[in-house]
Amino acid sequence: MEKIKFVEVGPRDGLQNQTESFSLDFRIELIERLVNCGVESLEAGSFVSPKAIPQMQDSEKVFEALKSKAVDLSFLVPNRKGFDRAVTAGVRSIALFTATSEAFVQKNIRMSIDDSMRVFEEISREAKDRKMRIRGYLSTVFGCPYEGRQSVTSAIELTKRLFQMGCDEVSLGDTIGVAHPRQVREFWKDFRSELSVKNVAAHFHDTRGAALANILATLESEVRIFDGSVGGLGGCPYAAGASGNVASEEVIWLLEGLGFETGISLEELLTTAAWLETHLKNPLKSKLYRSAPKHLYYHKV
Ligand code: HMG
Ligand code: MG
Repeated sequence: MEKIKFVEVGPRDGLQNQTESFSLDFRIELIERLVNCGVESLEAGSFVSPKAIPQMQDSEKVFEALKSKAVDLSFLVPNRKGFDRAVTAGVRSIALFTATSEAFVQKNIRMSIDDSMRVFEEISREAKDRKMRIRGYLSTVFGCPYEGRQSVTSAIELTKRLFQMGCDEVSLGDTIGVAHPRQVREFWKDFRSELSVKNVAAHFHDTRGAALANILATLESEVRIFDGSVGGLGGCPYAAGASGNVASEEVIWLLEGLGFETGISLEELLTTAAWLETHLKNPLKSKLYRSAPKHLYYHKV
């Protein structure tokens, strides 16, 4: 069976947009539960300003509690200060983020795209010297809440730069969940005419309920790394109107049903989603979770 790498971003992308405040014990237990589901790559937190995103404060302590786990625990870093925190904490894997949209980068990290690239080039050099793993995020690839539709050319150019600076993997984000499967198909066709998708991930949000269709369209282009967030939690505080990430359990259900191997237990993920929901003010949006267990095994029929 062909393998797919699945990256669970719930403990960062999922929690960062919630209005609840979460205890460290809760954040640590969420990650432990996800690891027990079979997840091997997780975004465990971020070293951003605690004033901007209080849900991610003390991410150092999350790493300290979990560093002995044999999984890739990655932490989002927005600037030099965040990188210094990552180094002090001893993390082995970081994620840097920029976007195709000038307005979005400005709102998100208060830099121009070029400045973000310069800062990240400097960070990447040092991270590579320290043998850290680097994931690069490129947001708003299919559309921006401030600038609308984005050009494929700028996504290609920025992805090239992210790889050139030393990123091991680049995740392309439909940050506000506006992509249409046809746009996605055309995007990857153009993208692949210039770049390999070997270490490229797709990061879909599910605002219009089209994320699974967009993953299907992406699979046609041989992308084999996908992001998701358990229960469909998430969103970006700087992307008005964006809803949660595509739910991890829906991605696993789709992929396993198509015959790919993810190494992740759907049943355990659903159990984790049920546990997660008991800590939230609002019900989870994941349609698979809402309909489980009745439809859980339909793909096997
Ligand atoms: P700044 O330029 O320092 O300006 O930070 P500021 O006025 O916002 O700074 C406020 C305070 O935060 C200052 O402290 C800074 O020192 C401090 P004060 O002087 O008031 O005591 N500070 C920090 N503290 C700890 N760690 C840091 C750090 N940086 C500054 N790293 C900045 C601007 C953008 C860094 C800050 O506002 C921030 O951290 N914002 C949050 C950014 C964020 O987390 N965005 C969401 C993630 S991106 C995303 O979700 C998209 C993605 O999922 C992909 C997709 O869907 O497309 C990845
Ligand atoms: Mg996101």
